[in-house]
Amino acid sequence: MAIRPILTVDADMATLKQVSSPVEGGVTDELRALMDDMLETMYAAPGIGLAAIQIGVPKRIIVMDIEGPDQPKKPRYFVNPEILEASEELEPYEEGCLSVPDIYDEVERPAKVKLRYLDYDGNEVVEDAEGLYAVCIQHEMDHLEGVLFIDHLSRLKRDRAVAKVRKAARPAA
Ligand code: NI
Repeated sequence: MAIRPILTVDADMATLKQVSSPVEGGVTDELRALMDDMLETMYAAPGIGLAAIQIGVPKRIIVMDIEGPDQPKKPRYFVNPEILEASEELEPYEEGCLSVPDIYDEVERPAKVKLRYLDYDGNEVVEDAEGLYAVCIQHEMDHLEGVLFIDHLSRLKRDRAVAKVRKAARPAA
């Protein structure tokens, strides 16, 4: 396993805006090695979710662990995830993103979703998600479409967020 650099909006916006391609041919050992790297990278950040495009790989793959810091690890892996149903009821949550460091803002999303995806072993899973799980999977699935959580904010807030990340990334003169 290896920790990969995480792309951020100051330097890598063009890559982060890419639409990721579906994985063809099922879940191979090569893909599992990529997911292992993604998980290690996410834990090291630390974060609770990571999409492959955030390490520059435009494939529809997500890793996640939404257990608290004092809980046993519970990694989740999603290959080619789809949302089959979304509740009409929306819920706000203050989101952040490893690609938009130190920026947090409220985003409203469907409170519950029904998902279909392939897991680490390549088995198809259909599952309901709510609470933080629903927030996180929708946030990560946005990444697969080249959408960042700041794209859900007003234009002004979005531009401010990107400017703030750029400023923080610039080496002091
Ligand atoms: Ni993110």
